Amino acid sequence: MHTFAIGSRDFLLDGQPFRILSGAIHYFRVHPDLWTDRIRKARQMGLNTIETYVPWNAHSPAPDTFRTDGALDLGRFLDLVAAEGMQAIVRPGPYICAEWDNGGLPAWLFTDPSVGVRSSEPGYLAAVDGFMDRLLPIVVERQVTRGGPVILFQVENEYGAYGSDKDYLQHLVDTAKRAGIDVPLFTCDQPFGTMIEDGSLPGLHKTGTFGSRAGERLEFLRERQPDGPLMCAEFWNGWFDNWGTHHHTTDAAASAAELDVLLSAGASVNIYMFHGGTNFGFTNGANDKGIYEPTITSYDYDAPLTEDGHPTDKYFAFRDVIARHFPVPPETPARRSPAPESVVSVAAGAPLLDVTSTFPAVAVPGPVPPAEATGQYSGFFLYERRLRGGGVLSFGEVRDRAQFFLDGAPVGTLGREHGEGSIVLPRGGLLQVLVEDQGRVNYGPRIGEAKGLVGPALLDGTELEEWSVRAVDLSSLDPFRASAVELPAGSSGRGGVAGPSVSFGSFEADGPGDRYLRLDGWTKGNAFVNGFNLGRYWSRGPQRTLYVPGPLIRAGANELAILELQGSATRTVRFVAAPDLGPDEK
Ligand code: GLA
Repeated sequence: MHTFAIGSRDFLLDGQPFRILSGAIHYFRVHPDLWTDRIRKARQMGLNTIETYVPWNAHSPAPDTFRTDGALDLGRFLDLVAAEGMQAIVRPGPYICAEWDNGGLPAWLFTDPSVGVRSSEPGYLAAVDGFMDRLLPIVVERQVTRGGPVILFQVENEYGAYGSDKDYLQHLVDTAKRAGIDVPLFTCDQPFGTMIEDGSLPGLHKTGTFGSRAGERLEFLRERQPDGPLMCAEFWNGWFDNWGTHHHTTDAAASAAELDVLLSAGASVNIYMFHGGTNFGFTNGANDKGIYEPTITSYDYDAPLTEDGHPTDKYFAFRDVIARHFPVPPETPARRSPAPESVVSVAAGAPLLDVTSTFPAVAVPGPVPPAEATGQYSGFFLYERRLRGGGVLSFGEVRDRAQFFLDGAPVGTLGREHGEGSIVLPRGGLLQVLVEDQGRVNYGPRIGEAKGLVGPALLDGTELEEWSVRAVDLSSLDPFRASAVELPAGSSGRGGVAGPSVSFGSFEADGPGDRYLRLDGWTKGNAFVNGFNLGRYWSRGPQRTLYVPGPLIRAGANELAILELQGSATRTVRFVAAPDLGPDEK
C-alpha cells in the first residue's frame, strides 16, 4: 500500500517528491475498446497520471438509476490506468462543466423547481448523496492507499466562478471522507479575483485552471496559497468549438513553451485535454453568455492526441518539453497513415413525424409543458395541438430549435440562437412542432433550465393550452426501420432526402476500423452506425466530419442511419480517413 500527501513544496508519494504530469481523458467520450490505446499514448508522451471527470447525468440518466456499463465503466477505466503503470486523478463534480450536457447535473433533478443548483439546498444535497453513495465505492477501493492508482480527488469544479456556499463544499468534503476517500482533496479555480478562495475551503489544496501566461498565474496561486505544491489542474492547450464559429486551434510551439514554463517552475500539471474524444449522441453542452451557443460533436480540443487517437505535432512538441525535465519512454506512437475512402448511399427512409406519432403521448391540460414532461431529457420532442385558425404564434422562448408543421407540411423554423420566438401560421389544422434540445448550458447561471417550448404559447395574444408532447425515442431505431420504404427514384434516380426522416443504407467492411463520416450536402441531424448515435451534424459547421470509432464497425454488413431534419441534396455520404473540423482563425 502507498501514501500520497501534500508536502510543503511537493506532492509526496510514499514520502518522496512526486511531480504530477497528468493528461485528461474522459472515459465517457472514448469508446471503451480504445481506452488502453489512449492511456498508453499518454504514457508514451511522458505523462505519469490520467485525470478524468465523472458525469453524473450519464451514470444516472433517470432518477434511481446508476449505470456502469460499457463507456461508463469507471472502475475498469481506472484499472486500465493502473495496468499502464500510471496514477489517476478523479473529479466527480457533482458539477463538472466540461462542455458536457448541463455540466453533468441530471436534468430530471430540476423538474422539481424547489431543488437548488450547486448549493446546500437540502433537495439537491440529498440527490448528490444518492449519487455519491453509488459512485464513491468505485473510487475508494482504487486509491493508492488501497493499492490502486487514485492519488487526488477534486471537490466541485471551479466553484468560485459560480458561488461561495461553503456549507455546500463542506458537505461534499464530509461525504467523500465518510465514504473512505483518504487521498488529498483539492479544488480548481481560475486565478482571478476571489475565485480561488470562494471555490475552496481551508484544508483543501488549491489549484489553478489556465492556458497561457503560466508564470503570472502561478504567482497569483502562490500568493493565495503560500504553502504546498503548485499545480495547474487544467492546462488548456486547446479549446472547444461551438456551432457557427471557427475551429479553435493553438500553436503547438507556443503551447509547448507554456508547458515548459510550468515544468521549469516546478509545478505539477494536468493537460486539459490530452485526448478530448467525442460528444456522442446528445451529450454536448452549450454556452450562454446572453447568446445561446451549443457545443459541437467533436471534442478534439486541438489536443496532443486527435479525436481518433493520432499523435499531432503538439504531441511531439510536448514530449520534447517533458523530456527536457523528466525521462520519457523510448517508444512513440505512429503518425496517421491514409486509409481507403468509400461512398455509402441511403436507400430507404421513414418520415419522422409519422413514426413518432405512434409513440406514447403525454397530454397536458394547462399551459404548454416543458420537454421534461415526457421523462426523456435530451434529443428531440414532438409537440402537437389542433388549431381552428392561423395567426401569429409566439412563445416565451424556444429551447432550442423548433420546426413547425401544419397537417404535415413544413411552415418554418424558430431558433433560440437567433432569439426567435414567433411564427406566422397561415391557417389552422394539426400543428406539430419538432423541438430539438441542442444541449444544456454547462457554465453559468442557466444550468438546470428546462427545455422544449417555454410558455406562454400565444396565438394572436390568446394562450394556447392543452398540448400533447412525445419524446422522439431514438434509443432503438427499430420503429423507424420497420416503417422505412424505398426512397422514390426521382427524375435522375439520385434525388435527395426530404426531412424530417430517418433513412437507412448499408455498407460492407472487413472488420473494425476507424473512419470519419462526411455528410456534404446534408443539412442537420444525427447519424448512426449500427444503431450507435455518433452525434449531431450541421452544415453550418465548423465541423464537417463525424468520428466513427473503429470498434463500432463489424466484419460484413453494417447499417448507416441518418436522421435528417431538413433535407439533403444527395443520398450519399462518404467515409474518409481524416477529420475535417473546419476553418480555423488563420
Ligand atoms: C473550465 C472547466 C472545464 C472546461 C474548461 C473549458 O476550466 O473547469 O470543465 O469547461 O473550462 O474547456
